[in-house]
Amino acid sequence: MDHFLYRKGILHAEDIPLPDIAAQVGTPFYVYSAATLRRHFRLFEEALSPLDHLICFSVKSNSNLAVLKLLGDLGAGMDVVSGGEYARARAAGIPGERIVFSGVGKTREEMRAALEGGIRQFNVESEAEMHQLSEVASAMGKTADIAFRINPDVDAETHEKISTGKAENKFGVPISRAREAYAAAARLPGLNPLGIDLHIGSQLTSLAPFRKAFTRIASLTETLRADGHAITRLDLGGGLGIPYETGNDGPPLPIEYGQMVKEVLGHLGCEIEIEPGRLIAGNAGLMVAGVIYVKQGEDRKFLILDAAMNDLVRPALYEAHHDIVPVEEPAPGAETTPYDIVGPVCETGDTFAKSRPLAPLQAGDLVAFRSAGAYGAVMASEYNSRPLIPEVLVDGARFAVIRRRPTYEEMLSRDMIPAWL
Ligand code: LLP
Repeated sequence: MDHFLYRKGILHAEDIPLPDIAAQVGTPFYVYSAATLRRHFRLFEEALSPLDHLICFSVKSNSNLAVLKLLGDLGAGMDVVSGGEYARARAAGIPGERIVFSGVGKTREEMRAALEGGIRQFNVESEAEMHQLSEVASAMGKTADIAFRINPDVDAETHEKISTGKAENKFGVPISRAREAYAAAARLPGLNPLGIDLHIGSQLTSLAPFRKAFTRIASLTETLRADGHAITRLDLGGGLGIPYETGNDGPPLPIEYGQMVKEVLGHLGCEIEIEPGRLIAGNAGLMVAGVIYVKQGEDRKFLILDAAMNDLVRPALYEAHHDIVPVEEPAPGAETTPYDIVGPVCETGDTFAKSRPLAPLQAGDLVAFRSAGAYGAVMASEYNSRPLIPEVLVDGARFAVIRRRPTYEEMLSRDMIPAWL
């Protein structure tokens, strides 16, 4: 459930009619619902209680400072994968002890910044990284709490570009090398191996791969404890999928996920961390675009929007489906026309949907892309020199621009022409 509903025939974000936002900020824009973000966070809180747990929002899914602050105020921790995301989490007021640092290629500078500013744990993805972190931490006179990210060799049964838990993927330490890795870490200065981490993929639509992976982690926990390591923390990663198409059976609910976590891992007495991104932010956001032209092609109709693949790349990159709905509700039983819904970027890949049946639209009308709150704004680029689009946060009857649209001048000001040209 989200808070984007038609009221008197106009699509609202909570209590705000979307055309009001469009009039103020122009199109296209992203809009997030605070109530939906809060609700999704609380679903995970309920799902994991009474286990000792920390929900670390995956910053890569939506890194706007206002979104991070809203979640941080509810008690969320953050999962970051770069120095930039770490800086964002800190700027949003998240204390270091609630930030976990994941990622397959952390640099010395990133390690130093996190150790300096405070960090809950590093999720270490290789033995090479382990050695480097040991050097960096001990040179600073610090001890880093670490979990190895274990690659459990489980197929997440999701899109191949977002599947991460198979042996062939670049992520994590192979489960077969885990005992050696922990033994080596225990001998090195500056490291305190206290946990196990995994993340097998994103947009999982069944619990079975999670259960399989967590079962492997449960037995690894026991093995490592028998080897003398005090494993007290398990970071289960993110990955729970969301319904992208209304009307279809959705993926499992957080409560069902939590139940399974308790069944498979509850007996170990570990503190549980999870790193959800999409489930919290995905259906808490829309991208709203305006129709520039309706164009009659040889045998099809194109709806040319002012939003493009640079603003929302998921359809072009993953053939992802987003529901696209008119902001003005069509009359019940209105005839529909199949549209190819495209942006103005000079690539055929700039196609959001093909033959999508919609009630007739015309230039100037607004449409909303659902499920765009995660991996939307964060993946945007300025391709075709299109400035990044604004983000808006709605909370009940108020809204605020939480990232404004840059001017062309601002966009151009980052380039420099050398004096010798
Ligand atoms: N933890 C780690 C270590 C991750 O790599 C990810 C996502 C998450 C947590 C959060 O996963 P989530 O709960 O959001 O599924 N751009 C793609 C998704 C990439 C996901 C990458 N890792 C998309 O638009 O579908």
